[in-house]
Amino acid sequence: MTQTITKTATDPATQRLPTLFYRSAREGMQDFLNQPSVLPDPAAGVLLPAFIGWSPREGSGVFDPVRNLAVRAGFYDLNPDLTVDLAKLEAELQKGYRVLVLIHYYGRTESKLREVRELADRYGALLVEDLAHGFYSALLGGVAGSLGDINLYSLHKMFPTPDAQGGMIAYRNQSLLDGQQETAPELARFILNYDWAAIGAARRRNAGQILDALRELPECGQDFELLWPEIAAGDVPQTLPIRILRGNRDHIYHAMNEDGYGMVSLYHTLIEPVRGDFAEMVALSKSVINFPVHQDLDPVHIPDMLASFQKALHASKEQA
Ligand SMILES: Cc1ncc(COP(=O)(O)O)c(C=O)c1O
Repeated sequence: MTQTITKTATDPATQRLPTLFYRSAREGMQDFLNQPSVLPDPAAGVLLPAFIGWSPREGSGVFDPVRNLAVRAGFYDLNPDLTVDLAKLEAELQKGYRVLVLIHYYGRTESKLREVRELADRYGALLVEDLAHGFYSALLGGVAGSLGDINLYSLHKMFPTPDAQGGMIAYRNQSLLDGQQETAPELARFILNYDWAAIGAARRRNAGQILDALRELPECGQDFELLWPEIAAGDVPQTLPIRILRGNRDHIYHAMNEDGYGMVSLYHTLIEPVRGDFAEMVALSKSVINFPVHQDLDPVHIPDMLASFQKALHASKEQA
């Protein structure tokens, strides 16, 4: 007799999510874009958000795979808080692209994810959810990562991986698996040796405490503004971004790092192809600075970090 309900799950296809591990997210992305099933020819094109960073030491984690493969690239403008403007996105999609990249910046789930998926489907594009900053936002049960054809993760931004390397791609659309070759399968084991829920809770706690302290500062709204004022349930920040309105971001960055606070300037310089047409994004790249919120941060140090920030902000205003 056939069993209507088996005693245990035995169907290997149910909820399968094939996942490949690499030395970096960019290496995985290049492997993805290099498959004929993904991009039958480089002219088919990749559409990317216009806020993409570059540095002499690290290159561009987002753009290097596209550039290395000489794939046709287009860019769509974002709102000043880095959320998607659907009208601007659709206008670019109309030009025809095979792959659309959506970045959940700093781990904040893009609130228009569903609409972005619908647009991708309408214009026949594959959707890459770039979760380089959003591992915990996606993997702890959030909405991020639920609609992409693939989900891209940068593990060295989330875990103390060996040699600060690690990337991962989850293929929700398995028909895109072709000749991909992972390069760091041992990282699967590495990341399972950490308590993801505890790390996510620590990052949310740290970001919440820093946000509360920032809101109390008299300079808030005058000299700087919060780029991410409310951290929604389910979101786990990679870092906490603010925008300097009056003062010099680079000065604040260097002064605070000299004080011993590991401030991050994630996308301080944008890649060359977007510098001409996206003035608002360029201005943002020069004014955004990110507070660390990671799991090693002991919240006992937050008040002194905020004092260091205030001091650096004032000094940079005097210089400006
Ligand atoms: C949004 C985003 N996607 C992808 C990457 C690439 O990550 P990785 O350094 O692991 O190649 C980065 C970082 O460079 C990033 O910020």
